[in-house]
Amino acid sequence: MQQKRLRFTGSQVDFYFDASFTQLSKLVDKKNAILITDANVHAAHPSRFKGWKTIVLPAGEATKVQNTVDEVIRQLISLGADRTTTLIGVGGGVITDLTGFIASVYMRGIAFGFVPTTLLALVDASIGGKNGIDVGSYKNMVGTIRQPAFILQDLSFLKSLPGKEWSNGFAEIIKHAAIKDTSMFRSLEENDPSFYQKKKSALSELVRRNTLLKTKVVQQDEFEKGDRKLLNFGHTLGHALENQYRLSHGEAISIGMAFAARLSAGLTGFRATERLTGLLQRYELPVTLSFDPGKVIEVLKMDKKKTPTGMQFILLQRIGSAMIKEIPVEHIYQSLK
Ligand SMILES: NC(=O)c1ccc[n+]([C@@H]2O[C@H](COP(=O)([O-])OP(=O)(O)OC[C@H]3O[C@@H](n4cnc5c(N)ncnc54)[C@H](O)[C@@H]3O)[C@@H](O)[C@H]2O)c1
Repeated sequence: MQQKRLRFTGSQVDFYFDASFTQLSKLVDKKNAILITDANVHAAHPSRFKGWKTIVLPAGEATKVQNTVDEVIRQLISLGADRTTTLIGVGGGVITDLTGFIASVYMRGIAFGFVPTTLLALVDASIGGKNGIDVGSYKNMVGTIRQPAFILQDLSFLKSLPGKEWSNGFAEIIKHAAIKDTSMFRSLEENDPSFYQKKKSALSELVRRNTLLKTKVVQQDEFEKGDRKLLNFGHTLGHALENQYRLSHGEAISIGMAFAARLSAGLTGFRATERLTGLLQRYELPVTLSFDPGKVIEVLKMDKKKTPTGMQFILLQRIGSAMIKEIPVEHIYQSLK
């Protein structure tokens, strides 16, 4: 295990790389901690939860809603949770987003930590302090920005992770490489999902590299005034497609990245669309989808990146370098068609 304390505005997060879940009891007092997890994680790793007060939620994005927040808060009250309690989200991005949000509003804010159990949550969702819930088909419409006290990474949880969830994680990893890290992009091109699934040291290095990449971007722009927006590469269209077409997050942002790359070709002179779509496909991700542009544009108009004159879109200049550009909604609509 390696510990690294990273500072954000007004807070710090202790990262535990290559750690073991058993070390959790050294970080928090078992009697004063409540774990929040989902039914799949609980069923796959029942022994890890023994001796911990645990709230088990139904698995899936549909759980990331206000009703769940109300229900968990009722359970926290009946468990006697107070301002000294620490909530720990043990799960994928749905669980970490929900746990961070509930901990931010319960009694006006209590401490929380994460044990991310999907590749996506390890390299992305657990990092950066964004948390929240969906409202109808509007993803992450309500939330706060508040950092966890710690993130404990135990990669052995991934042994039970379904193949499709690996691809979801790789979509965010490819996003990081595309916007910020040319040499990681090359390593990903040289390998494939099964290499990382089999070679623990390579996976551990990949998770660590992505954790530090995202952390650095967030540290420089915690409240998303500039560079942090680059992390939304592929997400504008991706979010609009995700709920409407019942795609997984990774599939949706993969299609979103492919679209943004094609848009970049016309607007920034980006010349590596095929290289990007090739890499996405190598990691078992889709790059096209037939959808209704009219329906999608209606959801895009409600996106948080919308401005009075257009949409802030993340474009690539080359592999490893991205930029933000405001694009008129009509231009996006024509490109979607
Ligand atoms: N806060 C952020 O910055 C941020 C960034 C990216 C994504 N997100 C959010 O994260 C969510 C997606 O995260 P996700 O892909 O981890 O989804 P998820 O939490 O729904 O997990 C995916 C599936 O894997 C299962 N699972 C989790 N860990 C497992 C394990 N170890 N073994 C077996 N099954 C396991 C879950 O039960 C679920 O069915 C979305 O809601 C997205 O909006 C947030």
